[in-house]
Amino acid sequence: MTEQTLILVKPDGVERGLTGEILRRIEAKGYRIVRMRMLTATDDLLARHYHEHTEKSFYAGMTAYMKSGPIVAAVIEGDRVIEGVRSLSGATEPTAAAPGTIRGDLGRDWGDGEIRNLIHSSDGAESAAHEISVWFD
Ligand code: PPS
Repeated sequence: MTEQTLILVKPDGVERGLTGEILRRIEAKGYRIVRMRMLTATDDLLARHYHEHTEKSFYAGMTAYMKSGPIVAAVIEGDRVIEGVRSLSGATEPTAAAPGTIRGDLGRDWGDGEIRNLIHSSDGAESAAHEISVWFD
């Protein structure tokens, strides 16, 4: 079943010049980029995007990171693409993420205790629809 998912290349991915490599991996898997924009996130966009996490202890640090530079938002289309791009992305913590994944191959800890994990990808059909509306409507 063809579906769509939302990805964000986070500020560390853009700053490190990894936007092309991250998108290359997604395209090489066979998925299509159908919408894309570069922007700097705002508090309002992040509150809507991360609405399930606004009360979490890491929320302030995470939003500071997400606003620290430009990001690239893209809608990706394909069969079972939500599951597929989550698999390509890897686990939350880059040091622990499996080799072969975007986070496992391209990310690491940087000694300051902050998680900078390069990419966001939607975790289900409902969140994908919501997140696409946040960044593209
Ligand atoms: S939870 O509590 O299990 O639902 O959280 P989790 O799924 O692990 O993470 C939710 C999103 O928060 C990001 N995250 C962080 N970002 C920066 N710094 C810290 N400390 C941090 N902890 C969690 C995590 O990457 C998830 O965001 P996305 O954009 O989906 O990767």
